[in-house]
Amino acid sequence: MQHTWYKIFESEADALKQVPLRQTRLLAVAGKEICLAHTAAGFVAIQDACPHMGSSLSRGNINYLNEIVCPWHSYRYNLQSGKECDYRTRNATIYPLEVREDGVFIELQQKPAE
Ligand code: FES
Repeated sequence: MQHTWYKIFESEADALKQVPLRQTRLLAVAGKEICLAHTAAGFVAIQDACPHMGSSLSRGNINYLNEIVCPWHSYRYNLQSGKECDYRTRNATIYPLEVREDGVFIELQQKPAE
């Protein structure tokens, strides 16, 4: 697997403007759908498809415990670990995210081209 960093915003200020606190944004990056969540602890990139039945987590809400609540059956995922809070389904994938001087980046794994 190759690990690649992708720029998702030109700057932190741009990200803060486009995704206000406690809001989410659906991003399509290198063929993957990612939910970007702006939490009190900063930005988090989590897989958009809910591990339960695939609803879009970017249409969910961030609660006061820093969990994202799926809009379909209200399963809650911890935005640090990706764990479903009541152990009802598998964990969601959290992607590494870095705020750098030249932008906001996330790291994705890609299969090498054949
Ligand atoms: S699809 Fe997300 S909780 Fe069921």
